[in-house]
Amino acid sequence: MKLSSFGDKYTGQSGIVDLMADLGEALHTRPDMISMGGGNPARIMEVETIYKNHLINLLKEDDGAYNILGKYQSPQGDELLLKQLAALLRDEYGWPITDKNVAISNGGQSAFYVLANLFAGRFSDGSMKQIQFPLVPEYLGYTDAGLEANFFTSTRPTIEMLGDHVFKYRVDFENMKVTDSTAAFCVSRPTNPTGNVLTDDEIRQLDAIAAEHDIPLIIDGAYGTPFPDIIFDEVSPHWSKNTILLLSMSKLGLPGVRTGFIVASEEIIQAYANANTIQNLACGTVGPAIASKLFLNREVLEISKNIIMPYYKERAFSTMDLFIQAMADLPVYIHKPEGAIFLWLWFKDLPVSSAKLYEILKEAGVLIIPGHDSFAGLKADWQHAHECIRISYAQDAGQVNKGVEIIAREVRKLYENN
Ligand SMILES: Cc1ncc(COP(=O)(O)O)c(C=O)c1O
Repeated sequence: MKLSSFGDKYTGQSGIVDLMADLGEALHTRPDMISMGGGNPARIMEVETIYKNHLINLLKEDDGAYNILGKYQSPQGDELLLKQLAALLRDEYGWPITDKNVAISNGGQSAFYVLANLFAGRFSDGSMKQIQFPLVPEYLGYTDAGLEANFFTSTRPTIEMLGDHVFKYRVDFENMKVTDSTAAFCVSRPTNPTGNVLTDDEIRQLDAIAAEHDIPLIIDGAYGTPFPDIIFDEVSPHWSKNTILLLSMSKLGLPGVRTGFIVASEEIIQAYANANTIQNLACGTVGPAIASKLFLNREVLEISKNIIMPYYKERAFSTMDLFIQAMADLPVYIHKPEGAIFLWLWFKDLPVSSAKLYEILKEAGVLIIPGHDSFAGLKADWQHAHECIRISYAQDAGQVNKGVEIIAREVRKLYENN
């Protein structure tokens, strides 16, 4: 098979594709494996029932099945829903947004792919621009999204110790370089994989620097405000004409509907809608139909604030406590859980790499995500990147607790046998 460079890229080696294939294979061959690796949201029955009832009622409406199954959406997405989301953001946050500032996507991943490649990559004069992560670790799913090689640049964070076993990453503004090749900044807030939430001050500074250089600031709010709002402390939502905010329905518990939203300047929304039409023709209709019901009376905000966020907050802190109790005498540090659905563990001076630890834990019956692939764009290797892992606490609590025990046992052996 002869392939273009596009084809080469997608058939070539990719850290994430290999890892995902390995995770899938491991679960297939050992169904008893404790899965703390994936990004699947938790199954929360109370919200599942709400979605199920909306879907049943949608189908019962006159022409219900036809409306959600038999029609293409317009390029930007269902007009009523765009108006609803714009109104929700205006009312909640006072942002000067109309339906022209909003588009629907087939999920956050697909929106990021289109947007990142709109801004970065090869230009007509032959020059190359990159997306910059002001702080890594960042979302693994970005790593191979660029159509060109060397698509990302990034800066190491500073590490602030917050207690015996807790730390927090902060943007290292002093060492962050913006050049003519910087196409955009991108941050996930809350951050996958660390559970970090960039502070209001960090976000304001990033937006100001981006505006000064006439580049956009992409804020991936897959876990953020206004929904699913998996943020444990008070922080301010952020949008400006310079910001591209990505939202998703996945972590509300609806990853199967593949629905996301983009909130940006009219010019960017138009460019996105054109690119999305060429790529996808139109977005799916089931997710937007459920979203429209959830936006009505702001039910989505209630669900997020009163059910989803408290669920993850409790799981985050109880899982962290278990880890700390089990490894109190070891040089193990956990990123302060501020949001999202993961804990990020740092095993300082671990005698093996996180890649090797992944193998050891798989053998012992627990799947995690090794940290080293989450540092895309760093110019030089960093030992810290090989000392961290991401675990999800979204699955069944009994299983997660068992997983914590196994991780603590195996890590202890590694330190003690060194
Ligand atoms: C930070 C971040 N952005 C985007 C996505 C993709 O979400 P979606 O299901 O909307 O494509 C994920 C999924 O885990 C994520 O963690």
